Amino acid sequence: MYNSRIIGLGKYLPENVVTNNDLSKLMDTTDEWIQERTGILERRWIEKGSEDTSAIMGAKAARIAIERAGLTKDDIDFIVFATLSPDYYFPGCGVQIQEMLEMDTIGALDVRNQCSGFVYAISVADQFIKTGMYKNVLVIGAEYHSNGLDKTTRGRGVAIIFGDGAGACVLTREEDDTKGILSTHLHSEGKNADKLIVSSPSIANWVPEIIATNGEDISYYPYMDGTFVFKNAVVRFSEVIIEGLTKNDLTKEDIDLFIPHQANLRISQFVQKRFGLRDDQVFNNIMKYGNTTAASIIIALTEAWEQGKVKDGDTVVLAAFGSGFTWGSVIIKW
Ligand code: UT7
Repeated sequence: MYNSRIIGLGKYLPENVVTNNDLSKLMDTTDEWIQERTGILERRWIEKGSEDTSAIMGAKAARIAIERAGLTKDDIDFIVFATLSPDYYFPGCGVQIQEMLEMDTIGALDVRNQCSGFVYAISVADQFIKTGMYKNVLVIGAEYHSNGLDKTTRGRGVAIIFGDGAGACVLTREEDDTKGILSTHLHSEGKNADKLIVSSPSIANWVPEIIATNGEDISYYPYMDGTFVFKNAVVRFSEVIIEGLTKNDLTKEDIDLFIPHQANLRISQFVQKRFGLRDDQVFNNIMKYGNTTAASIIIALTEAWEQGKVKDGDTVVLAAFGSGFTWGSVIIKW
């Protein structure tokens, strides 16, 4: 059995910055409300006419991650792509990466676990490396939310939160079992699937049926019971971090850096307080990018690393919660 270790990180954010004041021109909202309830100041939304999609942004982030890993695309053995906003209903974005990066016919897998997508994806990659099946696995999280949001007052509870972007990392084989990814912890609770959902189009409710309702069916917009999600998030975040620490005989005092999924700054702050962490031990960038679901942790991890905040020997904790519900944590010895 091997461990896996992150050796290259990359991110890509579309250039177009959308401020809270920009949103207040589209819907009945204010900069003050958004900042107070979410911590978000601005987000990136792909501009109309741009070439960017989840797969294209993912490819841009992946090229950077592979280069920073000191590898070439030919060294990659497998692709895991996490997104809730794939370019196509099928096939998935993973195969598009294989093509865009002109890779050999390596395997590619899409993970559909929304806000916990990256945590699930990295766990899948870790298992492939642990068993010795693959040496270098490319893991991508990318989201194109902005084209699918209800940008009217009706959708304001959701539209103000989400942003577009992508991050990627390369995991490689690590022979020292005290280094790299120490453990991953995954959970789900499908009874709450309808609390945060895009229910159409689906095989049960296909596009012609939606069109036939003449705009009255809004099931193709994300729906969220925000307060219910929030209350579950703070509990599950805490539980799954404790589970990870306990598994590795660690305590909260051992955490050097916590990178939460960027769902809401108030959720991150609640968890920070729960674990008694200082501001410099928690990395947040939701202020600049909003909630980029499957991309949020890997964008944040990349940015933290770029700013020199992730150091050799650090105990780094990643944790996420979201639609499904699904949640999970990753404990890393950097
Ligand atoms: O990443 C995946 C997991 N997602 C999350 O973890 C998100 C969790 N939930 C949240 O972050 C918060 O619940 C929200 C930010 C979505 C909403 O904040 P909230 O404090 O729970 O507000 P609320 O939904 O209870 O709404 C409070 C009021 C309502 O008005 P009334 O009914 O009290 O008159 C809303 O209609 O705020 C109103 N409201 C808004 N007002 C201005 C909702 N959205 C907006 C808005 N601007 N954008």
